Amino acid sequence: MTSATISQTSTGTAGAARRAPFPADIGNHYLIGPYGPVLEEVTAFDLPVKGDIPSDLVGRFVRNGPNPIEVADPATHHWFLGEGMVHGVYLRAGKAEWYRNRFVRSRLVCDRLGEPYPAGKPRSKVDVVNTHIQHFAGKTLALVESGPPAMALSHELDTLSYEDFQGTLGGAFSAHPHLDPLTDEWHAVTYELENRSEIRHVVVGTDGKVRRSEVIGVSDGPMVHDFAMTQRYILLFDLPVVWNDASAAIGHIFPYQWSDGRAARVGLLPRDGAAKDVVWIDIPPCYVFHTANAYDAADGCVVVDLVEHPSVFRTALNGPGEGPPVLARWKLDPKSCSFSKVVLSATPQEFPRIDERLTGRQHRYVYGAGIRSDRGSALCYDTEAGVEQAHDFGPGRFGSECVFVPKSDAANERDGWVMTYVWNAPTNKSDLVIIDASDFSGPPQAVIQLPARVPFGFHGSWIPDQA
Ligand SMILES: [Fe+2]
Repeated sequence: MTSATISQTSTGTAGAARRAPFPADIGNHYLIGPYGPVLEEVTAFDLPVKGDIPSDLVGRFVRNGPNPIEVADPATHHWFLGEGMVHGVYLRAGKAEWYRNRFVRSRLVCDRLGEPYPAGKPRSKVDVVNTHIQHFAGKTLALVESGPPAMALSHELDTLSYEDFQGTLGGAFSAHPHLDPLTDEWHAVTYELENRSEIRHVVVGTDGKVRRSEVIGVSDGPMVHDFAMTQRYILLFDLPVVWNDASAAIGHIFPYQWSDGRAARVGLLPRDGAAKDVVWIDIPPCYVFHTANAYDAADGCVVVDLVEHPSVFRTALNGPGEGPPVLARWKLDPKSCSFSKVVLSATPQEFPRIDERLTGRQHRYVYGAGIRSDRGSALCYDTEAGVEQAHDFGPGRFGSECVFVPKSDAANERDGWVMTYVWNAPTNKSDLVIIDASDFSGPPQAVIQLPARVPFGFHGSWIPDQA
């Protein structure tokens, strides 16, 4: 083990930034403890490691999440709000060369830090980008839904510019685009705060330009966080979390709430079809933030694995928390418009991911982040065997979204690394943990110790240098 070299920039002393630490008694758990924002941007080199970092992992493990630089009203603050902060660890030659965390430079962040705004123009008055980070068409992009632009970041995670896909987007983008591994195109389903009567299926070509933007009419302004695709269809989730006028009228920045009695349905849009071609299938009310994957079954039905919440934002208005989210398999029949489901795993979990070389085709394994109050785990559900394995991080240690990285291009679906950030409560710092997927419940392959806490946040990617 080696000791890390650390430099820190306090956002509280640089330029105009004057944010006081959040008090501990503000009554909103999304602002304290493991969720609470971090105060410094840290750069650390040569991180201590337990175990062995695979030498063929050359690239960055990055993740985005909300990290408010200021809060108007803690009583109404929502987990999904606040400036984006990206965290990254760079691996090369079996070493963890650096850790960096950086605010995604919204105008508010720039104002507080006394910095110039990013290049380009934001297309909306809100430019907070806090949900995902992916690499596409040569760019590392921070992502968010509902209207703010994507933001291009440097290899060292500094914000470079607003991203408008060479002027071709003309609307909102998404926090959850999915890469079609057979075409290398980027698909997304978007919705927009300012235009609540439509959603869009957007396809970005390998040249970084939008080549398709199909408008689908909807009612009530549904929050469409994620989608899924098969070889035939784009799945549209039109669920009962919708824009709430009363909430907006009293100034809530996140005025999306559950609507009792509002229909829930899934649309099957042929991948190159028009809005009129969508087959809508009614389903029982629930909410889905995240899909794992979908595929076309031999009988013509569509199968989608996802994490299902009984409801959200119905009684708990600061974040999800109205019953355990479970891993479920839905089957949708476009001929009879029928729906059926089975619960694959009742273990409370979120952030499902797969081996994304299989996006849109049948997968076997789904990786999730186990949710327990006393300890955390990574989960692997084998859909063929019907068996769930857990990688227990130990007492007081809590994981987050797992990302699967194949060991090589030719590796099979179980032959890879599973990477996740783990918060260690006793030290209040985080680790990057690498698990061998083929020995999922065994000891970790490597535990890389970070000099700071990575707050509970959202989504990220492994970005190999060759990408
Ligand atoms: Fe998400």
